Amino acid sequence: MRFFALHLPAFAALALASPVHPPRTPAAVASHALFVRQDIQTAINASLPNVTIFATGGTIASQGSSSTQTVGYQVGLGVQQLVDAVPEILNISNIAGYQISNVDSGSVNQTILLKLAHQINAELAKDDVSGVVVTHGTDTLEETAFFLQLAVNSTKPVIVVGAMRPATALSADGPLNLLQAVTLAASENAKGRGTMITLNDRIGSAFYTTKNNANSLDTFFSTEAGQLGFFVNQIPYFYFAPSAPIGLTHFDLANATSLAHVDILYAHQDMDPALFNASYAAGAEGLVFAGVGAGGISAKAREAAEGLFNATGIPIVASHRSVDGFVPSADMGFAIAAGFYNPQKARVLLQLALTMDYDHDEIKDLFALGYPKP
Ligand SMILES: *[C@@H]1O[C@H](CO)[C@@H](O)[C@H](O)[C@H]1NC(C)=O
Ligand SMILES: *[C@@H]1O[C@H](CO)[C@@H](O)[C@H](O)[C@H]1NC(C)=O
Ligand SMILES: *[C@@H]1O[C@H](CO)[C@@H](O)[C@H](O)[C@H]1NC(C)=O
Ligand SMILES: *[C@@H]1O[C@H](CO)[C@@H](O)[C@H](O)[C@H]1NC(C)=O
Ligand SMILES: *[C@@H]1O[C@H](CO)[C@@H](O)[C@H](O)[C@H]1NC(C)=O
Ligand SMILES: *[C@@H]1O[C@H](CO)[C@@H](O)[C@H](O)[C@H]1NC(C)=O
Ligand SMILES: *[C@@H]1O[C@H](CO)[C@@H](O)[C@H](O)[C@H]1NC(C)=O
Ligand SMILES: *[C@@H]1O[C@H](CO)[C@@H](O)[C@H](O)[C@H]1NC(C)=O
Repeated sequence: MRFFALHLPAFAALALASPVHPPRTPAAVASHALFVRQDIQTAINASLPNVTIFATGGTIASQGSSSTQTVGYQVGLGVQQLVDAVPEILNISNIAGYQISNVDSGSVNQTILLKLAHQINAELAKDDVSGVVVTHGTDTLEETAFFLQLAVNSTKPVIVVGAMRPATALSADGPLNLLQAVTLAASENAKGRGTMITLNDRIGSAFYTTKNNANSLDTFFSTEAGQLGFFVNQIPYFYFAPSAPIGLTHFDLANATSLAHVDILYAHQDMDPALFNASYAAGAEGLVFAGVGAGGISAKAREAAEGLFNATGIPIVASHRSVDGFVPSADMGFAIAAGFYNPQKARVLLQLALTMDYDHDEIKDLFALGYPKP
């Protein structure tokens, strides 16, 4: 296990200055500090399902200065205020809440992710809890959702939800999104489907759903893989029976105190080859590049990446900068093909594999699970 030792890539000493890796010491194991569990209603109705909301912040918890302001607003509403805005929720479930953080999703970091994973695993282990909802900013929502898909091992639903408009805006979408998320978390039909993302009536798998538009309400969907289901009159309808996405692996992060450092490099014309070494020198333990086309990079950048790999053995994963697509495994040479994973999901998967001390071949096999040969 890597958690208690300083981890240095095998050949680090050869050529590059040793990168800086945070120590994962026993002292740091101390706390995935337990948060205060608040009962949101005054009295429990024992005939209703129990859903726990983990609030992290984001637009859904934000207020602007006017009903027309839809950018530049402030995060600040707490979990109690989120539920207070949608009293219908307490007619369908008993709600307990945890305030994990109150930040925009660009500021969600590994401390918050590990706390979420630990607390959600503990919550879902309780017999009387039907499911959980995570409220989150939309910008990196898919990363947290994919992380939870890999780090939470339960048949009970985990629903990640956000909003594109702050609570103060005309036609704010947060309240109905939250009602639908709680409905889904409490639904028997939602079991065995892993972590789901729901916004704007759509239900999608955390595996494939991505944010497609920086501003519009209709932004979360999964282009080729499609949606899992849809809300009609606040009832979730699914297209398919429960099934696991190909390539799904669960990681037990119970003892993890930090996550491995993985950077994403964005390929483009005249990509600076120095970025690969610079990232490594700054402490990266793994790299993902958002390739042009199906995992491509310029000859110069490729040579630099291969040189770094030859010198250090650091895993380098090739993904695609296009919104959707597939990087096939054939002829990738030094790089590991990301298959369907977009750069941000490939990063999460590589991060967890490195955190669990997978070696290069195991990482290659892990990614290859996503594209088994027929
Ligand atoms: C990256 O570092 C390796 C090892 O020191 C070196 O051989 C290579 O020239 C460097 N590449 C670039 C593009 O600076
Ligand atoms: C408890 O929930 C059940 C099922 O929805 C409902 O019929 C009943 O009226 C609720 N009881 C109270 C006291 O609200
Ligand atoms: C909800 O929680 C209460 C209190 O623990 C429990 O009595 C009840 O059975 C739970 N509801 C369901 C549907 O599990
Ligand atoms: C909750 O249910 C009760 C009983 O059906 C109903 O009178 C009340 O309007 C509902 N509250 C909300 C906010 O939907
Ligand atoms: C992550 O963010 C939280 C909340 O802002 C902060 O308390 C924590 O120190 C941050 N963790 C890291 C590793 O930066
Ligand atoms: C996930 O849960 C299943 C069923 O309980 C169990 O067999 C498996 O070992 C668990 N995986 C991890 C990584 O905990
Ligand atoms: C976590 O640490 C405990 C105590 O050392 C150990 O019993 C358990 O197996 C570890 N779990 C994992 C998943 O490494
Ligand atoms: C990396 O190593 C391979 C295999 O030894 C070799 O063919 C290739 O030329 C090396 N690439 C660089 C850039 O050093």
